[in-house]
Amino acid sequence: MTSMNQPFLSAVALEKTFTLHAQGGQTLAVMRGLDLSLARGECLVLAGPSGIGKSTLLKMVNGNYRISGGRLTLHFGSEGQGRDGRTGDGPDGEEHDNGRLELADLPAQAWHVLRRDVIGYVSQFLRVVPRVSARDVVMEPLLARGADEQESRQRAETLLARLNLPERLWSLAPGTFSGGEQQRVNIARGFIAEHPLLLLDEPTASLDAANRDVVVSLIQEAKARGTAMLGIFHDEDVRDRVADRLLPLEGHMGTASEEKL
Ligand SMILES: Nc1ncnc2c1ncn2[C@@H]1O[C@H](COP(=O)(O)OP(=O)(O)OP(=O)(O)O)[C@@H](O)[C@H]1O
Ligand SMILES: [Mg+2]
Repeated sequence: MTSMNQPFLSAVALEKTFTLHAQGGQTLAVMRGLDLSLARGECLVLAGPSGIGKSTLLKMVNGNYRISGGRLTLHFGSEGQGRDGRTGDGPDGEEHDNGRLELADLPAQAWHVLRRDVIGYVSQFLRVVPRVSARDVVMEPLLARGADEQESRQRAETLLARLNLPERLWSLAPGTFSGGEQQRVNIARGFIAEHPLLLLDEPTASLDAANRDVVVSLIQEAKARGTAMLGIFHDEDVRDRVADRLLPLEGHMGTASEEKL
């Protein structure tokens, strides 16, 4: 079996229904029958109007929202085979014999390991932690893996410089930064650890043209090293430059098919 066409992430008949506990337990069905397949080195862009469920899908893949039905699966098979003869490189004790990891109903500890080692997420807005400097915010994903501090700092600064964040801001907490400055800190934090799967929720929404170009380059470099990406980009120019395929979410309260670019 070759690894070329194997998906790294797949969804089959994925479903999401929110239960609004604060509103008498009413339910809100937002997704049904969603299928997708994402390979290493591929960027699949979620499309569709506001409220269709794009961010919801990213949050399901990131383990922030519970999966209501269907399957969402990571496939580790192709990478693990060459390394030590085992078929999986999932978090310890969680890999299946054939290198598949089913994401529905994973225990919280497994999500912690997955987000550290496998799934990177650039949310639309930076979650600001008081008194933590921009440099430390960016370094943190590497330090969490036990990386060398000096080297982590170096990589953080290289990324912040590439994203044109003025050096005088590096040691300040991002709480008072402009929207675009916070977004660039968030992007640097998302890209620094080179996760094999990257989720991007409108990462260029608050950026000027020059910084959008930097983000496009970061995405293209990630693709070249085999990163699988699931992204949302409202900017059509950026979308055209990074998307290998579009996945329109319209009709996923019913059915729809993927659109080849
Ligand atoms: N935590 C939640 N609880 C209840 N409903 C939610 C929750 N999160 C999202 N929804 C609902 O799910 C639907 C999809 O929302 P989502 O944020 O995924 O849309 P989107 O496609 O990302 O839209 P936009 O382009 O505006 O960001 C919306 O109707 C929203 O109200
Ligand atoms: Mg959204």
